[in-house]
Amino acid sequence: MLQSKSRAWAVIDRKAILHNLAEVRKLIDPKTKIMAVVKANCYGHGDKVVAKLLENNGVDMFAVSSIDEALNLRNIGIQSDILILGYTPEVHFHYLVSENLIQNFLSLDYAQKCNQYAQENNAIIRGHIKVDTGMGRLGIRCVDSDYNVDEVEAIYHFSSLSVEGIFSHFSVADELDEDNLAYTQHQYELYEKVLHDLKERGIDVGCTHLQNSYGVLNYKFDYDYVRPGLLLLGVTSDDQIPIRSQPQFIPAFSLYANVSRVKTIEPNESISYGRHYISEDRRVIATLSIGYADGIPRLASNRSMYVLIQGKKCPVVGNICMDQMMVDVSECHNVCEGDRATLIGCDGQNRITVDEWSRASETINNELLCAISARVPRFYTRIE
Ligand SMILES: Cc1ncc(COP(=O)(O)O)c(C=O)c1O
Repeated sequence: MLQSKSRAWAVIDRKAILHNLAEVRKLIDPKTKIMAVVKANCYGHGDKVVAKLLENNGVDMFAVSSIDEALNLRNIGIQSDILILGYTPEVHFHYLVSENLIQNFLSLDYAQKCNQYAQENNAIIRGHIKVDTGMGRLGIRCVDSDYNVDEVEAIYHFSSLSVEGIFSHFSVADELDEDNLAYTQHQYELYEKVLHDLKERGIDVGCTHLQNSYGVLNYKFDYDYVRPGLLLLGVTSDDQIPIRSQPQFIPAFSLYANVSRVKTIEPNESISYGRHYISEDRRVIATLSIGYADGIPRLASNRSMYVLIQGKKCPVVGNICMDQMMVDVSECHNVCEGDRATLIGCDGQNRITVDEWSRASETINNELLCAISARVPRFYTRIE
């Protein structure tokens, strides 16, 4: 096992990511391509390493949230197409051209600005049009009460834009109750209507894409790309949400910290800020060199969470601090300073999932993984 000299560290399993890529491929039509969403430093896994791995294994398009994320990928030599899902400020439009990036044309006004910049600079800006079919975030509104296909069409006619695709985004593809199934179905129908109306008007719509991870897990559609992020990393947002397909994903992310101090406390002694833990009997307590500044949520304090040491479950005691947290190691054998604690991953027969931390801190895996901070170094397993 790779053990760093850092206080806390993450290990990302490259083989698991390749396995997950293969699992996603099994879920989709062979002619559908994968646009890997690697935004937010690939959900904390490291966008550069993961994107390179995916590119070397046949992924030919990436999606990121911002221009800086796109430039990061270009700087490490990613040559594939990169779609920027978010807003790029005008001052950075020149990068769209020089780095050959694909911008989300997220409104008519915004597309107009891109077009004007491109005209003035004798350039072409590439993009995909975002259609808002009910997510209510970015895109040209194409919902029942506000259907603006004329605006979508107008963007196709801008002379200095190269509109190469059109996409939308689901808001409840993870929910399988009747209402939400109907909502997703309606989003799909609205997207289809937009495509149909554009084709009727003689527009070549370019490539199409609609499905994020839950869209892939729960629905079968026939578009050019799917846009999974989380699934490639081997997790869903919450392992208790039912899904329609049951692929065998392998979580790629593990998290460890060193034991920095071990002591025995007597009955009725308190641990950490707020004194929320009071010992009932003699306990052995280990301090770990990881805390909420590393991304371990403080909300998970005093909520029956645990870590693994010597393969045993060691309960978190007291409030999680900024750089440290304490666990009860009374059931272990002679824990020493410098020993390894597993916060996410396997130790012996036991495994702690990111889902457990997310539940204890009332969030989803997406947020928790993104929140593992930059000061936690990432190490990557080799692929033989
Ligand atoms: C527009 C868009 N597409 C795809 C994704 C990927 O989502 P997931 O990680 O759930 O697959 C995201 C992420 O939030 C997104 O914003």
